[in-house]
Amino acid sequence: MATSSSSSLLFLLLSTQLALTIVLLLQSFLSHANLDAYFLACLSNNTWTNPSAPISVTGALYTSDNSSFSDILNLHIHNKRFNRPNTPKPIAIITAFHESHVQAVVICSKASHFQLRIQSGGHDFEGFSFVSDVPFVLLDMYNLKSVDVNIQNGTALVEAGATLGQLYYRVAQNSHVHAVAAGVCPSLGTGGHFSGGGYGNLMRKYGLSVDNIIDAKIVDVNGDILDRKLMGEDLFWAIRGGGGASFGVILSWTIKLVAVPPLVTVFKVNRTLEQGVIDIVYKWQQVAPKLDRDLFIRLQHEVHHKTVQVTFIGEFLGRIDRLLRLMKKSFPELGLTKSDCFELPWVNSTLFYAEQPIGTPAETLLFEAKYPAQYYFKSKSDYVKNVISKEGLQSIWKKFIDSEIIIMQWNPYGGRMWEIPTSATPFPHRAGTLFKILYYIIWLQDGEYVTNRNLNVSRSMYEFMTPFVSKSPREAFFNYRDRDIGANSSNGTTNVDAARIYGAKFFRQNFDTLMQVKTRVDPQNFFRYEQSIPPHKF
Ligand SMILES: Cc1cc2nc3c(=O)[nH]c(=O)nc-3n(C[C@H](O)[C@H](O)[C@H](O)COP(=O)(O)OP(=O)(O)OC[C@H]3O[C@@H](n4cnc5c(N)ncnc54)[C@H](O)[C@@H]3O)c2cc1C
Ligand SMILES: *[C@@H]1O[C@H](CO)[C@@H](O)[C@H](O)[C@H]1NC(C)=O
Ligand SMILES: *[C@@H]1O[C@H](CO)[C@@H](O)[C@H](O)[C@H]1NC(C)=O
Ligand SMILES: *[C@@H]1O[C@H](CO)[C@@H](O)[C@H](O)[C@H]1NC(C)=O
Ligand SMILES: *[C@@H]1O[C@H](CO)[C@@H](O)[C@H](O)[C@H]1NC(C)=O
Ligand SMILES: *[C@@H]1O[C@H](CO)[C@@H](O)[C@H](O)[C@H]1NC(C)=O
Ligand SMILES: *[C@@H]1O[C@H](CO)[C@@H](O)[C@H](O)[C@H]1NC(C)=O
Ligand SMILES: *[C@@H]1O[C@H](CO)[C@@H](O)[C@H](O)[C@H]1NC(C)=O
Ligand SMILES: *[C@@H]1O[C@H](CO)[C@@H](O)[C@H](O)[C@H]1NC(C)=O
Repeated sequence: MATSSSSSLLFLLLSTQLALTIVLLLQSFLSHANLDAYFLACLSNNTWTNPSAPISVTGALYTSDNSSFSDILNLHIHNKRFNRPNTPKPIAIITAFHESHVQAVVICSKASHFQLRIQSGGHDFEGFSFVSDVPFVLLDMYNLKSVDVNIQNGTALVEAGATLGQLYYRVAQNSHVHAVAAGVCPSLGTGGHFSGGGYGNLMRKYGLSVDNIIDAKIVDVNGDILDRKLMGEDLFWAIRGGGGASFGVILSWTIKLVAVPPLVTVFKVNRTLEQGVIDIVYKWQQVAPKLDRDLFIRLQHEVHHKTVQVTFIGEFLGRIDRLLRLMKKSFPELGLTKSDCFELPWVNSTLFYAEQPIGTPAETLLFEAKYPAQYYFKSKSDYVKNVISKEGLQSIWKKFIDSEIIIMQWNPYGGRMWEIPTSATPFPHRAGTLFKILYYIIWLQDGEYVTNRNLNVSRSMYEFMTPFVSKSPREAFFNYRDRDIGANSSNGTTNVDAARIYGAKFFRQNFDTLMQVKTRVDPQNFFRYEQSIPPHKF
């Protein structure tokens, strides 16, 4: 009897608890459903959109019950780590076809209290452009991809959704002696890539993408379209390296094209420990940042058969003969020969850097890769300011060989990169930086164990590198987003405190200026993500 009454009491307690939970769940479900409905009603409100092209009739809106929803979402996810069944999905995807669609999405996301994630090429290393752990709307800029080249003015107007490959191809259609200072992966979107800095193999001569941007068009937090003149020089400064997604939606850029000769020279040679790569890399650190600025030599380190293999990948803005004379004088240790070198138009060299064979038609730059991507990856970055000794190199490689699966890229700075003042753009890694390191691990089979092991391996390598890289702060490249260096985690720090940690690494002293701009243009912090720039009072 006693037992039975206490168990029925327990049952009563449990069911009250259960009922309460159900009510709470229902409430949150209903309020989300209401917000969804409100958001959709707002979008279809023609006062926000161009009446000739409302979102509802142009086929730009995919809600989660649409059978194409997953395909559209998967189209630009380049890292399967953020494409698992339990990865949070947006409540809706808008594939904007018109600038007014972007305006409507900003206004309606804000009015519905949904977070907005903005995606152009989708390459974000941490998936910040398309994943959030609160209810969010995904704005996909992919369809806004026109490229308008003006050779008389030496400029191009490029929309945020255009890929680098599309931009490179369109420029080359107009001229063989004009090029774009930007990255080496043709599928990067100009929306994210440019606003995060944008480096490539022309940087020693012409600086970063952001050093060659002369105008931009954005949609601000009020849904207004602003160009450089209307947004003000402070905001125009901030979006050239501080990341677009903290400030607004980039619609387009006007960039200055840069001069290249009709033929450039490329090469790719590899050397192993047995072939004396220690001496070669030791010398590379000293010469690569100081060589003629027409020459860029990237190193790629991989483990092959339990030894290090370093590949030297070069781009030279000139012909083979001048390159060989230069190498003989400054870097004979590499032993570069004529048969290692290929002359081709600049546009073809972008495909060579994208690991396509010589002779690949330039039209390949227009092809879209087949997605969803089939691999998982984790990347990190570092900056080196002092030449690493031969003993240091030896110890790094021992650790590297033990890790087996890490790949490292070392990209030399110097030239134009050292001339541009640290505060000219938010990107601060200028004078005195010898080279940047990119670490990455790629894997094909998912699983908690594999993922944790690979994340551990990358963190352990990063830890090991501490004595060889920049300190106070340990700098990191903003375009290589890395959650490990600090995010607005819930460990008791406020957002601003947390942001100061990653902010100093990405932007050094420019972080304060970025926060000032943010405070002026988006004081309510509508445009935000895990590593965004917060306004002062947050
Ligand atoms: C394979 C690979 C190769 C790479 N090579 C290089 C390289 O050579 N040089 C280099 O500098 N970097 C390189 N990166 C890094 C790359 O530049 C960044 O990942 C960049 O942010 C990608 O831009 P996206 O538009 O493709 O990506 P997205 O994931 O779409 O966007 C990245 C970030 O920018 C924001 N954003 C995107 N579009 C807009 C917009 N229209 N308005 C406002 N904010 C926007 C997003 O919200 C997100 O925060 C490489 C990355 C990968 C995966
Ligand atoms: C639609 O527009 C009208 C007029 O501007 C406005 O009053 C109304 O609130 C809007 N409705 C939604 C759901 O945004
Ligand atoms: C899915 O959304 C697209 C774009 O709005 C639309 O064209 C299509 O008809 C929708 N499909 C279904 C099954 O609702
Ligand atoms: C070209 O430059 C001129 C003079 O600066 C300017 O008026 C014109 O708008 C430019 N054209 C384009 C397409 O940018
Ligand atoms: C290294 O270079 C050799 C000779 O050029 C080439 O055969 C080999 O494929 C290269 N190895 C790698 C991993 O690129
Ligand atoms: C460069 O691209 C053009 C245009 O597609 C192609 O015809 C040519 O074969 C390519 N040249 C080289 C050397 O790759
Ligand atoms: C990863 O590192 C953590 C912390 O050091 C450790 O607890 C865990 O066992 C490691 N996991 C794997 C798979 O290596
Ligand atoms: C909070 O997290 C950041 C990085 O995420 C770390 O640097 C900081 O030390 C942490 N603070 C506390 C109080 O644990
Ligand atoms: C971190 O920022 C993201 C984006 O603004 C937000 O969704 C998340 O709730 C924040 N987390 C914390 C702990 O502040």
